[in-house]
Amino acid sequence: MEIESISRESQSLSTVINFLIDEKLPLVSNLANLSRVLFDWFKGVSWAGFYLANEENTCLYLGPYQGPLACTTIPFSKGVCGFSATNKRTVLVDDVHTFKGHIACSSMTNSELVVPIFKGDRVVAVIDLDSNNFSNFTKEDAVVLEDVAFIISKLF
Ligand code: SME
Repeated sequence: MEIESISRESQSLSTVINFLIDEKLPLVSNLANLSRVLFDWFKGVSWAGFYLANEENTCLYLGPYQGPLACTTIPFSKGVCGFSATNKRTVLVDDVHTFKGHIACSSMTNSELVVPIFKGDRVVAVIDLDSNNFSNFTKEDAVVLEDVAFIISKLF
């Protein structure tokens, strides 16, 4: 596969991710390219990236992403990302304005999909996708992103 030929039409997302990641590289290098792939892959994405959990699992810190400026620190007790990390589960939000504790990094964001990345039982990061559209992400997108999270977990 050539990097220029990566597209939804020709490959599955997990094939692309497996092709791109290189376990010999620093984590940040892998996540940087993956954030761009995720941004381009799903339709209607305004922000795509990673928040990395601290050792104590109390806080998420901004990792590589594509999109407008974002919050650098999210406590596990706050926001959709924190909810996902605390409850160790995927969170699909059709309308972020109805989600108690949502953190509005951008006032344009209307829907969001967050999937945790696990190392064993521990959440080491979350993948966050935002959209300016309401209900932009589907349950099928969530399943695809969970597959991605599983593949990426070997980098941690
Ligand atoms: N909206 C997120 C915060 C991260 S930014 O949107 C990039 C949340 O509520 O967790």
